[in-house]
Amino acid sequence: MEIIKAIYQRRATRHFSDAEVTKGVAHDLVRAAAQAPSAFNQQPWAFGIFHGRERLRAYSDRAKDHLLATAEPLFGLDPRIDQYCDDKYNIYHDADTLIVIFAKPGRHSPVEDCFLAAQNLMLAAFGVGLGSCPVGFARSWFNLLEVKAELGIPDHYIAVLPIVVGYPAFPPPAVEKNEPEIACWQWDE
Ligand SMILES: Cc1cc2nc3c(=O)[nH]c(=O)nc-3n(C[C@H](O)[C@H](O)[C@H](O)COP(=O)(O)O)c2cc1C
Repeated sequence: MEIIKAIYQRRATRHFSDAEVTKGVAHDLVRAAAQAPSAFNQQPWAFGIFHGRERLRAYSDRAKDHLLATAEPLFGLDPRIDQYCDDKYNIYHDADTLIVIFAKPGRHSPVEDCFLAAQNLMLAAFGVGLGSCPVGFARSWFNLLEVKAELGIPDHYIAVLPIVVGYPAFPPPAVEKNEPEIACWQWDE
């Protein structure tokens, strides 16, 4: 797939079919993520790969409980408060696969580099017919020490961006993008 087409057509996917992502495909996505640029080529990322709709549903319930217990003031600003209080709402959108990108601290710019890896992963997913959606609200749960211990994640790793992937149930709706503001354009002809 042409890269420009992927950049313009990738959209956050929040409705997934029953088709399962294979282990091999999940691994390929992580490898594509790890091709991203990073400061001094430090590659300061690590990946958590989680598969299984029941598993993700259970993680969603636990993350919502955590959010409601700890981040209440934020919800005043969040239009999705009703969803986080809704027992049926799955923050992972009923996807079967979740890939969490962790930053390894003590490097030059681990968090920024991980976001570059995230974009690679989402474009690569789109390129093989998968949909993806970042789930920022899951970040704080994955950063709990007890959760890291349970899942085998080193406690100093920082969860930067959980991303669900799966086969879209239907093409996601178009999202309007603004014409980029050119704050400054000094161009000698
Ligand atoms: C850092 C970050 C966190 C996000 N968190 C969530 C989230 O928790 N739940 C969700 O459904 N979408 C989440 N999104 C997806 C955005 O809502 C989506 O990218 C945005 O609406 C633009 O749509 P597009 O990705 O189709 O261009 C997040 C995106 C980013 C970059």
